[in-house]
Amino acid sequence: MGFKEVNSSLCVEGVPLSDIAKDYGTPTYVYSTESLKKNFNAYFSSVRERDKVCFSVKSNSNIHILELMKNLGSGFDVVSGGELKKCLIVGAKPENIVFSGVGKSLDDIELALENNIYSINVESEKELERIITLARANGKKANCSIRINPDIFLKSHKYIRTGHKASKFGLSKTSTLKAIERALNSGQINLIGLASHIGSQIRNKALVFKNLNNLIEIFGELKDRGISLEMIDIGGGLPIPYNKNDPKIQVSGLLKEVISKVSELDINLVFEPGRSISGNAGILLTRVEYLKKTSTRNFAILDAGMNDFLRPSLYDAWHNISNIEASKELAANYYLVGPVCESADTLGEERLLSLDEDSILAIHDSGAYGHVMSSNYNSRTRPSEVLVEDCEIKLIRRRESFEDLISQETNL
Ligand code: LLP
Repeated sequence: MGFKEVNSSLCVEGVPLSDIAKDYGTPTYVYSTESLKKNFNAYFSSVRERDKVCFSVKSNSNIHILELMKNLGSGFDVVSGGELKKCLIVGAKPENIVFSGVGKSLDDIELALENNIYSINVESEKELERIITLARANGKKANCSIRINPDIFLKSHKYIRTGHKASKFGLSKTSTLKAIERALNSGQINLIGLASHIGSQIRNKALVFKNLNNLIEIFGELKDRGISLEMIDIGGGLPIPYNKNDPKIQVSGLLKEVISKVSELDINLVFEPGRSISGNAGILLTRVEYLKKTSTRNFAILDAGMNDFLRPSLYDAWHNISNIEASKELAANYYLVGPVCESADTLGEERLLSLDEDSILAIHDSGAYGHVMSSNYNSRTRPSEVLVEDCEIKLIRRRESFEDLISQETNL
């Protein structure tokens, strides 16, 4: 069911979004349990028992969503000690957690070691040395994989590509081979596998296979040298259509093809999907504060701004924005802007909408990289989040209060 229009009123799992706006105020992020389940199951039902689907926590790290994912059978891809702790709090099994990121601190690595997570995905020679030192000091062996930079160029926004040579992520093939030698000689590393994430919004399926083939090739070379690894982690990055003209990728079909490529090898696969699970499972509700007409533009000034939802300002991302209830006003072309004192605070340009002051709008497909990227810029409090399941509405994060906002400055 997810988000659907019923009698000209946009609903989530049968609940009119206008009821949620009334009861919880705006801006508020609203998530559909059913959409999250459906998106996760597209992965989970396609993989083999030996594979892991590790939800990318950075896309949506609300504890209640993580708990739901864990209960569905998900593992987790984390990139900070904070994300790792959140997963542990909801009872995630450490053997289902992988940890990437170029700047893991001493504390991050100690936490990963202490909990014996499935894999620390190593991103540099220096990080490997740090892990070896800490593992030795703690009398442990660290489960590690090497994250490879395959030099694959993804045509998506430059901020969300990670697999090309000039990016800070991963190690080149030559450095990978050296790192593997070092890891094995150290006696402190339990070498699990190879990882590579080439970026987000991979619309060209061929690049998924280019990345996979590269990993399979290195896996084979290592095997020839007598080094057997148990896992290949191909990262996340499958796209979602934000616009109806965007291509739609069928997750299950793609996964079947990926799995068939490794069927001859004795290897476990790890997938790290974020956006393709949480993206279309959330919307942001916002209210029109003012309509403002200038000599060149019609502005609708919303109560949500770039601090609440950064994607349009940071990546020029396009999100569908619609009324949640039909309006009698005449449609006009609007610039939908927020209250933040920055011209970049624009959530949509030239949108044909029928608006009134107090109209409530839904910013669609904002379940991934929405609330997680919000901030307190302009001393604005961050939005609340609610999760809906079968007509039941659950507040999963209360709206920040002014006291929350100043507490770290006043409670010293
Ligand atoms: N694995 C790793 C190592 C990653 O760095 C990422 C995303 C993922 C998995 C999940 O990728 P996904 O399936 O969600 O595409 N804030 C940006 C996206 C940044 C993605 C960062 N890494 C946005 O709003 O588009």
